Amino acid sequence: MKIVVIGATGTIGSRIVKALEGKYEVIKVGKSSGQYRMDISNTHSILAALEEINAFDHLICAAGDVAFNSFTNMSAEEWQVNLSSKLMGQVNLTREALKYLSPRGSITLTSGVLSDHTIATGTGASTVNGAVEHFVKAVSTELPNGIRINVVSPSLLQESVDVYGDFFPGYQPVSGDLVAKAYIRSALGVATGQVFKVH
Ligand SMILES: NC(=O)c1ccc[n+]([C@@H]2O[C@H](COP(=O)([O-])OP(=O)(O)OC[C@H]3O[C@@H](n4cnc5c(N)ncnc54)[C@H](OP(=O)(O)O)[C@@H]3O)[C@@H](O)[C@H]2O)c1
Repeated sequence: MKIVVIGATGTIGSRIVKALEGKYEVIKVGKSSGQYRMDISNTHSILAALEEINAFDHLICAAGDVAFNSFTNMSAEEWQVNLSSKLMGQVNLTREALKYLSPRGSITLTSGVLSDHTIATGTGASTVNGAVEHFVKAVSTELPNGIRINVVSPSLLQESVDVYGDFFPGYQPVSGDLVAKAYIRSALGVATGQVFKVH
């Protein structure tokens, strides 16, 4: 079974890879690292990498750039990062991946706790995380060949507390290994159109 992990070297992606490797063929993809390079904010890059990887059974995306800033200071360019990477990057990835996925395969995308909660500087993240979740619920009714799609919404990871902890006062961090299990439940289970919350 061939499982493609985008963002494989990241905080979340590396835990997913660790949990899958040895049991499945794991294809590691990153923007500047991994076996294959892909920038999900660039449709040509998505197409080129998928063409190279070719057929696979499951796709996991643990990538998607988000700009954090107060609404009044957030620039049009920062909004564009959120839209073109976290939101449209994952939408375009889903669209193109359908051509390479096995029947009854799966796609697992990433949102985040800010689709349910708000923090200072988090309006951009809340906006696109919510949109990714609504996209998954809606598109799950349309995917061909029994292909399933879900989204994992992690809370702040324990492994990211040093970097983002001050922005999440009162949030209970979750372990990367627990978050990785949600991706595996989504990819290898039977659910579709679901948000797997690890909060
Ligand atoms: N960490 C958390 O606490 C947390 C909580 C909730 C949600 N999330 C969400 O989970 C996702 C991953 O977070 P993370 O903390 O694991 O990030 P991370 O540690 O910064 O790692 C990001 C990974 O994604 C790859 N990547 C970055 N931009 C990409 C792009 N445009 N196209 C393809 N790959 C790209 C990176 O590849 P290279 O290293 O090769 O550039 C890296 O492998 C993000 O969308 C984040 O918002 C994170």
